[in-house]
Amino acid sequence: MADPKHSSTELSEAEIAVHWKEEEYFYPSARFISQANLVDHNVEKRFSLENFPNYYKEYADLLDWYQYWQTTLDTSNPPFWRWFVGGLLNASYNCIDRHLARNKGKAAIIFVPEPEEEPATAITYQELYVRVNETAAALREFAGLKQGDRVTIHMPMVPELPVTMLACARLGVIHSVVFGGFSGQACGDRIADSGSHVLVTMDSYYRNGKLQDHKEKADQAVAHAQTCGAKVNKVLVWRRQRGAYHSKTPMVKGRDFFMDEVLPNYFGKIVAPVQVKAEDPMFLMYTSGTTGKPKGIQHSTGGYLAYVAGTAKYILDIHPEDIYWCMADIGWITGHSYIVYGPLALGTTSVIFEGVPTYPDAGRPWRIAQRLDVNIFHTAPTAIRQLRKVGPEEPRKYNYHFKLMVTVGEPIEPDVWRWYYNEVGKKPAVIVDTWWQTENGGFLCSTKPALNPMKPGSAGPGVPGIHPVIYDEKGKELSPGSQRAGNACIRNPWPGIMQTIWGDHDRYVQTYYAKYCKNRKSKDWRDWPYFAGDGALYAADGYLRILGRVDDVINVAGHRLGTKELESAALMVPEVAEAAVVPVVDPIKGRLPEVYVALKPGVTIAHNEIQKKVVASIETTIGKIARPAHVWVAEDMPKTRSGKIMRRVLAALSNNMAVGDITTLANPDVVEHIKTMVQAHAKPAAPADAPEDIKRFGQSE
Ligand code: PRX
Repeated sequence: MADPKHSSTELSEAEIAVHWKEEEYFYPSARFISQANLVDHNVEKRFSLENFPNYYKEYADLLDWYQYWQTTLDTSNPPFWRWFVGGLLNASYNCIDRHLARNKGKAAIIFVPEPEEEPATAITYQELYVRVNETAAALREFAGLKQGDRVTIHMPMVPELPVTMLACARLGVIHSVVFGGFSGQACGDRIADSGSHVLVTMDSYYRNGKLQDHKEKADQAVAHAQTCGAKVNKVLVWRRQRGAYHSKTPMVKGRDFFMDEVLPNYFGKIVAPVQVKAEDPMFLMYTSGTTGKPKGIQHSTGGYLAYVAGTAKYILDIHPEDIYWCMADIGWITGHSYIVYGPLALGTTSVIFEGVPTYPDAGRPWRIAQRLDVNIFHTAPTAIRQLRKVGPEEPRKYNYHFKLMVTVGEPIEPDVWRWYYNEVGKKPAVIVDTWWQTENGGFLCSTKPALNPMKPGSAGPGVPGIHPVIYDEKGKELSPGSQRAGNACIRNPWPGIMQTIWGDHDRYVQTYYAKYCKNRKSKDWRDWPYFAGDGALYAADGYLRILGRVDDVINVAGHRLGTKELESAALMVPEVAEAAVVPVVDPIKGRLPEVYVALKPGVTIAHNEIQKKVVASIETTIGKIARPAHVWVAEDMPKTRSGKIMRRVLAALSNNMAVGDITTLANPDVVEHIKTMVQAHAKPAAPADAPEDIKRFGQSE
């Protein structure tokens, strides 16, 4: 809580650590260690900075290259790093073809449909090979796609999604997968930004027991892209149930085609993998940032694939014989790296689950784990909290055995971590808390599962080859154990790092490097630390505890939402004059957005009407994932004398915290008015120690 010695705008960073309770260590079992991929204590030394960047040869050597690379890292144009220069490879070859000689009959993907009565289906490496080749042939010959073209894929969690991605990778076509839960309009924005002329979608999918219409979003996406000046020529539609169409929107003649009707023309067709350069872009993944416009994060082929294969092997401890299940959605980076590319590059079996974990009940994930004999399980704190809430004793009822479990996407409360460890993992399972971002391709911080003890709530040290550093606002390094929070940064580049923001190189430099760059002219990577945008504490043991975003991004259930994106959606409602979005703590989803709006003068409209309109606009522009916890209609916004909305004051009110010093506001009275309104709704008691991201929210404005 606020320290009276400090004004509310001047944050006491030391104070945060004083409240921080050190957690006890948990150790991996001898049984886990005896089978682990990474047991060499010398790894720290091998991956020390004095051996940078050559140590990443170990990761590159996990792949097959048509032409071996000559230069590990080219730094001639910082911060546009080029990895494994001179190398030629193909990602689809590495994830499929090379496994055929010994493992063509092994399951590459096991698809678990949401309806429990529909049986799981295993797709062997041979079957995946055939499907990916036929799809690649259709993309090339029917849709006219060639190397370097972009294609937008807006699909649910079905095997046709990785099939389509791998078919693109086979051709060197850059895929841009948009999370299926995003609205048609959000998809249209991404189509336009990436310059895609082809959209791949699906008619429908199961969620919470219902078959959802998905194709309608494709029509909205194409229409919206057109308003942004982008023309989609072809929409390729997979069908959830072959031959049956479950969407209310009709197929558009000459534009929309069913994949199950197109593919028979390419029956048995084999497409030679295109040999792409290591630094040719493989995919785009849009994510939220400080401004309203989402960023198209561009990932390379060679560096990315080497990095996800290496981290999947050493941190997830994936062996080819494992049954590995990551519950994330492939529409997010976790799904790209650790459902599709990493696990398949290592030739393991990756489970894809269509539905929500608590449908039809909280025992579903554990039934799947038992039935398929899953031994590596990967999910996010939001799902763990939800499963604990609705079925705290469910895991006990099922006979499965995890050797390793992953948590990713948000900070995990130590108490939630313990439930995961004791109940879900039944104690033998090791937990890795992996901290990273869309921009990073793969893990940045985590314990090495057989080598480091776990500490609940802490991600751990940098993974091999990643050298974290915490800077204060002035660029001074905070040493481990200094007990002050600062900005999490990485000293060195790594192969999985993004290449740039699609079409916006300046924004790339500004967002990730400008803050701590020591010399803009320097060609030495040491002068270009990567700024992650997360607050962190560096414990004496070298473990990082991630405190959350330091920018205007809200992490809702592990999904990044830009407050500016929500604000512009609210401002599209004609009656709204001003809008401000702040995060509010939620016991399951971590954070939820709350929206404050002020109406245009003279507007008379019932509050519940305006609330409905704002929610509808947010759902149309972004999607249901951005649905606010509440929309408050205020008579005015708290503002500085220069007219800026004080979001930190609103964040304090939403979270039932002290607002601090408001004497400098132009309209302090309005704070009282909003407070009365907000407090009239039963709010949870103020958190004993408000989370760091909430305390900092809006401070920089
Ligand atoms: O704030 C951090 C949080 O998620 C953000 C990245 O979100 P996104 O790009 O969507 O990628 C999510 C999955 C890689 C980070 O800036 N975050 C991610 N992992 C953790 C985390 N916060 C705490 N602990 C983690 N393990």
